[in-house]
Amino acid sequence: MSGDEQAFGVYIHWPFCLSKCPYCDFNSHVRREPIDEQRFLRAFQSEIAATAERTRGRTVSTIFFGGGTPSLMQPATIAGVLNSIARQWRVAPDAEITLEANPTSVEAERFRGYSAAGVNRVSLGVQALDDGALAELGRLHSAREALDAVAVARAVFDRFSFDLIYARPRQTPTDWANELERALAHAGEHVSLYQLTIEPDTPFFALHAADKLKTPDEDTARALYDTTLEVCAAHGLPAYEISNHARPGSECRHNLVYWRGHEYAGIGPGAHGRLDIEGRRHAIATEKRPEAWLAQVEARGDGIISDDVLTREEACDEFLLMGLRLAEGIDLNRYSALAGRPLDPTRIAALHEHGLIETTPQGRLRVTLPGFPVLDAVVADLAA
Ligand SMILES: C[S@@+](CC[C@H](N)C(=O)[O-])C[C@H]1O[C@@H](n2cnc3c(N)ncnc32)[C@H](O)[C@@H]1O
Ligand code: SF4
Repeated sequence: MSGDEQAFGVYIHWPFCLSKCPYCDFNSHVRREPIDEQRFLRAFQSEIAATAERTRGRTVSTIFFGGGTPSLMQPATIAGVLNSIARQWRVAPDAEITLEANPTSVEAERFRGYSAAGVNRVSLGVQALDDGALAELGRLHSAREALDAVAVARAVFDRFSFDLIYARPRQTPTDWANELERALAHAGEHVSLYQLTIEPDTPFFALHAADKLKTPDEDTARALYDTTLEVCAAHGLPAYEISNHARPGSECRHNLVYWRGHEYAGIGPGAHGRLDIEGRRHAIATEKRPEAWLAQVEARGDGIISDDVLTREEACDEFLLMGLRLAEGIDLNRYSALAGRPLDPTRIAALHEHGLIETTPQGRLRVTLPGFPVLDAVVADLAA
């Protein structure tokens, strides 16, 4: 993985979906009326211009259209956003430009339109290769349709990824190994494999609380995670982050911006950004409700509802929390420079003794494979 030291990412949030999946707590909404994309485009342009005003001189290395379901956007809207970014900042010639797509809205013609607009990578929400499981997840597509969408992605883009959700009700490690093997036969250079999380305020949360939806116990979840690592490694897609696997050199550069603690602009309803302005790290969030966000941008030029300067301690904790998700870990010197002091050597020694972390001759600290399932505890211990 290249260091990408100058990385600067732009995230664009499209907050609409055709239906709401019962496990999902992302900022996504279903609307009966058609969406006025022109109006959204104008608002995106305003926020891009307002953010660029605060970040002059940056070179954009990655752009990510996330959602919601950005594959519901017209290619012309995507082109309009990309043109606006290129007018406001310099965009690196090799910039990675990703769009998240739901298999329900994948058509070859539309994908060619995205490609013509400048998108060079797609990430597809396949979620499962079992029709019963897809129905239980509330998905509107079959396994066949998901694989057809993967084939379209492969035909149109040099780089593509897809997501699967595992640790689903009743799923055994053997079931998952078989499903993952089948999926990887269709994979490109990257896959994201997420353990089903029961998020508060979702229909799955209520079902789970009522004992009507059972997720695997801790031991099974651990076995499922180990299966994930083994099967992916055997296919040449080692984990470079807890849930992300890639051929070395094909990692998602945009997500690396987050995990390596670089700068990114968040554009659109409910987007988050981190900007380093005059030596201070700003955590910026925008209004989540799409129509309220539109109204605020139209009135004020941006949809920002909070812009907090992180304390040194907050910035350091975030650096640890994000960086230790990566197999490469963190640069201890960079931590020391950020914190103004090194990490506590006695804590490092104790975690090392338990086999949860290791240090490299290059001065990096990383979590070991046995440490990954207890990452939150490791970070809490180091940050304390
Ligand atoms: C915001 S979605 C965007 C993708 C697209 N909307 C779709 O669903 O196909 C990004 C990914 O997050 C994952 N995800 C969302 N909620 C999850 C949950 N509760 N547990 C595990 N993974 C989840 C899914 O794999 C999904 O593809
Ligand atoms: S998982 Fe994807 S399609 Fe489903 S509600 Fe969330 S963002 Fe929308």
